[in-house]
Parts: sequence; C-alpha cells; structure tokens
Amino acid sequence: MSVIRSVVMGCGSYLPERRVSNDDLAKVVETTDEWIVERTGIHERHIAAEGELTSHLALKAARAAIADAGIDAQEIDMIILATTTADNTFPATAVTVQAELGLHHGAAFDVQAVCSGFVYALSIADTFIRCGQAKTILVIGAETFSRLLDWTDRTTCVLFGDGAGAVVLRAAEGEGTTADRGILTSHLHSDGRYKEKLYVDGGPSSTGTVGHVRMEGREVFRHAVINISDTINEALAATGLKAADIDWFVPHQANKRILDGTAKRIGLPPEKVVVTVGQHGNTSAASVPLALDTAVRDGRIKRGDLVLLEAMGGGFTWGSVLLRW
Ligand code: UT7
Repeated sequence: MSVIRSVVMGCGSYLPERRVSNDDLAKVVETTDEWIVERTGIHERHIAAEGELTSHLALKAARAAIADAGIDAQEIDMIILATTTADNTFPATAVTVQAELGLHHGAAFDVQAVCSGFVYALSIADTFIRCGQAKTILVIGAETFSRLLDWTDRTTCVLFGDGAGAVVLRAAEGEGTTADRGILTSHLHSDGRYKEKLYVDGGPSSTGTVGHVRMEGREVFRHAVINISDTINEALAATGLKAADIDWFVPHQANKRILDGTAKRIGLPPEKVVVTVGQHGNTSAASVPLALDTAVRDGRIKRGDLVLLEAMGGGFTWGSVLLRW
C-alpha cells in the first residue's frame, strides 16, 4: 500500500563558541568536577554570548540543515521551532527564522514542550506532511537555556547548556512497511499533575518576569526512566520491530545515568547509544537534534539505519519518534 512518509533530507546544528567547564562553574557555586561528572556525565557545556539569541542559534542550525538537504530554502512551506527560550514573549521565534531565510509563504510557529519540544515538533511536522498540508518542513530545536538559570542554585545551573539543531523533512512515497525511509511512528504524552516537579517560576501572565528553573531532580529522574522506557516500547509495539532492530538510539541528553538506565531497561548495548551530554549538557529542545547531527557528521548514522529518538521534560511531557534515516 502506498503511503506518504516524512523523510529526513538533511540535518544541521550549531553550538555557541563559549565553552564552560565544570571547573569554571566551581568558581561560581559550591560544586566540583567530580560531583557533576559522577552524577550527570557532563564535562562542559556551551553558553550563548551576550546578545546571541535563540533565533541566531536556530538560524545557523537551519542554514546547515538546508545546505545538507541540498534544497533551496524557498521550497520550505512550514517552519516548526521547538523552544522554551523564545527571543520575545511574542511573536514566535520561528517567524524571525522565516524572515531571515527570506521566506514569505507558508506557516511558521513555535512549540513549547520544554525538553520534549523537538520530538513534539517532529511528530507535528509528520502529521502535517502525511495529511498533505505541507511538503517540506524545517523542524528546529533551539535554546538559550542559560538565560533561565539561577546561577546561585547548584542543583540546576550545572546541568544545562545552549545550542540548536535542525532537520528538513520532506514528503515521499513509501510502501507502508518498516523498510520505508522516514518517520515510521511517533508517540506523544504529557501529564500536568507533575508540572511542579520541573518548571520556571515566572511568566508573562503570572509574575511578568522570565523566572528561573526549579526542579526536584530525583523525582524527575525516577519518572524519566519509566516514561521513556514505556514510550520506546510503544514505538516498537506499533511497528512490530524489536529493540535488536534499532541501529541508533538518540535520546534526550539530560543525564548519562538516565541514558544508561533506559538503554539497559530496553536491552540496547551502550555502543548503539549516541551520548553528547558530556560536551553539551542538557540543551532542552536542542539536545536530540544536536545529538542526531553529531552522529550523522561522524558517520555513525547512515542512510537506511533505524533511529530511535526520545525525550522527557517539564510538564511532564515525553515522547518517541522511530524513523528510518
Ligand atoms: O531535561 C529534563 C529532564 N531532567 C532530568 O532528567 C534531570 C533528572 N535528574 C537528574 O539528572 C539528577 O537528579 C540530578 C543530576 C539533578 C541530581 O542527581 P542526584 O543523584 O539525584 O542527586 P540529589 O539531588 O539526590 O542530591 C544529592 C546531594 C545533595 O546533598 P545532600 O542533601 O545529600 O547532602 C545535594 O545537595 O548532592 C548535592 N548536590 C550537589 N553537590 C555538588 C546537588 N547539586 C550539587 C552540585 N554539586 N552541583
């Protein structure tokens, strides 16, 4: 049976120049390189320069993805940008990217699902493509998460970083089997009962300020391993594929211990897990496309590979996307 699939035509990413090590942070808050590495696997993170905005990072990643896809930017008929750190309260940062790319047609909008944002955005893009409402969609995850950090709170400020990643999706005909290239299945979830476990204590309608990240780390950790494993099993059940069929697992990069725990739970060997948390920290909506682009650039992910993406974040929100590269 002939079906429409959303195929990844190209990807790209961008990291701000400034790298901040754990030792640098130990000068700001009471922490140590040993604690951060042992508890999270993070060695360093990139932090945006003053005046460097989410749209700047997004645009650089977008341009790299468009070049990699080998298309003309004018062919893009939709831009979906996942971010928690928009340039302004409104308009959507996606419209800034749209204008900078010289596009005056189609639609551009932001998606807010915090760390799950890119997985949400991919799933939304796939739905638009499969129902025929768009043909070529630029999907971006971009964050200047450092702007939300309380630099006196050692329990959160050591965990996050800034960056952006993007993919270009295009409608293509498939056979309707798991041998097709493109997105094979996606699954999204949220449960607002847990919104106070990970949130920002400000906003336009409450305090009128941007606010800072607050997190009950241990609780988030516990839910993350369970929710992520469940949504992976959901993706496998929906396609009839097995964990052994997965070539590359590209998880949200929050904590090396969460990645290891999840991989073990679903029976994936460590060599199939793409781990960038050590160099990037947790870049929220940018983490999955940054990890994806890293593994494509270094030659690990190749055309035809089965790639599993997942994320979990504030809300709680979580989800998975299974695709053939
Ligand atoms: O992207 C969205 C999803 N986010 C996540 O998935 C994050 C999930 N959570 C985590 O990754 C981990 O829970 C953390 C890395 C945040 C914390 O690790 P933990 O092993 O759960 O540590 P903990 O919160 O239980 O804290 C252990 C101790 C505490 O001291 P006491 O109370 O035992 O004396 C903390 O005060 O470590 C202390 N601590 C620190 N010590 C040095 C907390 N942060 C630091 C720090 N440096 N930066």
